This record gives sequence, structure tokens and C-alpha cells, in this order.
Amino acid sequence: MNSKILVTGANGQLGNEIRRLCRNFPGLEFIFTDVDMLDITNPDAVSVFMEASKPAIVVNCAAYTNVDGAEENVKNVRKINSLAPQVLAAACAMQDAFLIHISTDYVFDGESTKPYTEEDETNPTSVYGNSKLEGEEKIKTVFDNYLIIRTSWMYSEFGHNFVRSIIALAKERETLSIVNDQIGSPTYARDLANCIIDIIIKSILNPKAYLPGIYHYANQGTCSWYEFAQEILNITDIKSCKLIPISTDQYPAIAKRPKYSVLDTSKVRGSFGIGIPNWRDSLRECLSSMRI
Ligand SMILES: NC(=O)c1ccc[n+]([C@@H]2O[C@H](COP(=O)([O-])OP(=O)(O)OC[C@H]3O[C@@H](n4cnc5c(N)ncnc54)[C@H](OP(=O)(O)O)[C@@H]3O)[C@@H](O)[C@H]2O)c1
Repeated sequence: MNSKILVTGANGQLGNEIRRLCRNFPGLEFIFTDVDMLDITNPDAVSVFMEASKPAIVVNCAAYTNVDGAEENVKNVRKINSLAPQVLAAACAMQDAFLIHISTDYVFDGESTKPYTEEDETNPTSVYGNSKLEGEEKIKTVFDNYLIIRTSWMYSEFGHNFVRSIIALAKERETLSIVNDQIGSPTYARDLANCIIDIIIKSILNPKAYLPGIYHYANQGTCSWYEFAQEILNITDIKSCKLIPISTDQYPAIAKRPKYSVLDTSKVRGSFGIGIPNWRDSLRECLSSMRI
């Protein structure tokens, strides 16, 4: 098997982290693309690109990720999050390539009180969650050569995310009201990037350990958005802003989010022998790499 890996949506949080890590793996050949180079919603462009580059593995990091914006952009969101994964899967099937696709904890409705396993029933509450679930289902209709990794509350040094927003807002304001009744697991994109490369090396490039399917990956431990924000301010030592815990009802978000979206990660840990750091340790690591 060749070891050429095509990464789509590579200018986003996860794509950038894979780009950064790839330097440590000179034996793997990476091709990084984003919408300007390869628009994954264009079937002809995808098939021509795949035919010319012949990757063994495609890692799809491209997505429409603005959860509130999605409610007012249904057509475009479905194109990127639902139909494009099918386009990529079809092109992978033609080229006999493996697809690693990223999905979300927002495929669940949040009514559970224990971490969601890969077998638990899905029931998204938002356009974004629906579109991501549809993307998963469309991939499954094309072929079996896929790994779908659901992750949650992702942040990194790159792009728009909760960590960067909280730091910027906390520097400007004296108080910030943050939702305290939605529980999840913040996930550092670099940890997920590490996990993806680990899986590629341990499993996909080693046909004997080939384990396709759906997997959950999130940093260990859980918290509310308020607790997450509190930890960001503790680590960065920003004392000028006071955080006020509020309920979801007090925060008028456009999209409905699950109250509890903790992912059970035993399958990914057991199948690939992967250790997952606690979210507080990873947050500290991310913040130490950021210029604040
Ligand atoms: N962020 C989270 O909290 C979170 C949580 C759970 C799961 N996930 C999933 O994790 C994956 C990676 O998320 P992320 O936070 O790294 O996303 P991100 O930072 O929003 O990056 C997505 C990238 O995809 C690009 N893109 C959009 N449309 C495209 C198209 N038609 N063709 C090619 N590229 C396109 C975007 O370009 P533009 O910026 O120019 O649009 C952007 O560079 C996604 O599947 C997401 O659904 C994310």
C-alpha cells in the first residue's frame, strides 16, 4: 500500500494540527488542500484530483462548522456536511482509498445521563447535527472502507473556537455569562490529529489490524462550558473578568444543543491502544503554545 494521505479542509483547526504534526512522520506523504484547491462539494473536481493524486487515505477535515449559522444556511450546510462526504466516499471507492471522516457529538440529543457509545441511538437537535449525521449515513451507503470519528467541543490555536473567544472577551469585559448546564468534553485538535496519525500507522497501513467503523474520540473528563471557561481564565491568569454561570434558557442561542454530549471513548482506546489525555492537561498544553 502507498502511504499518500490527502487532507481536505486543511486550513481549519484539525487540518492545521495534522499539517503541523506531519513533519514528525517523514515516511508518510501528505497532500493538504482546502476549498480554494479542492472544493469537496464538486464531484468532478474531487474525482479528477483523486485520479491524479491517487492517495491511499483521505482525511476529511472539511465541514461547515458554525452551529448557529447552519440554522439559516440549510442548503449550503447539507452540501458540505452531507453530500460532500458521499462524493469523497465514491471517489475513494473508485481509487480503492480509505476514508477517515470526522463527525460530531451533536448527532446525539443529549437526553442521556451516561457517555454515548458508538451504538447509541442518534437524534440530532440542530441543522448542523442533522447534516453531520446524514454525512455519516451517506458514507455508509457507498462502501465499508471508512472510519468515522465523532469528536466534541474542539479547540486549537487556529481559527474560531471557544478558547480563543473566551480569552478575547475576557480581556475586554468585566463579566461574562456562560452556560453551566450543557456538559461535554473539550477536545484539543492536536490530540485528535495525533490519534488520526496513530490509527493510520497502526491500522490502515497494516491490513492485519484493519478496523473500519465509527469511533468516538474526545479528551477525557467532562465539564460545562462555564467550567471550561473558568479553567481557561485560571490557566491564563486573567483576573479582570468575572464569570457568571447561567442556564441554557438564559442564553438565546439559535441552534438547540444537547445538554449532555459526553462520548464514551473505550472503543477507540481499546481497538488502537490509544491513550487519551485529560481535557485540563490538554488545555494547558494548548494555551502554553498560544501567544496570549
Ligand atoms: N469545531 C468543533 O467544535 C467540532 C466539534 C465536533 C466535531 N467537529 C468536526 O471536526 C471536523 C473539523 O472541524 P474544525 O473545527 O477543524 O473545522 P474548521 O476549523 O471549521 O475547518 C473546516 C475547514 O473546511 C473548509 N471547507 C469548508 N467548505 C469546504 C469545501 N466545500 N471544500 C473544502 N474545504 C471546505 C473550511 O474553509 P472555510 O473556512 O474557508 O469555510 C475550513 O478551512 C469537522 O468535520 C467538524 O464537523 C468539530
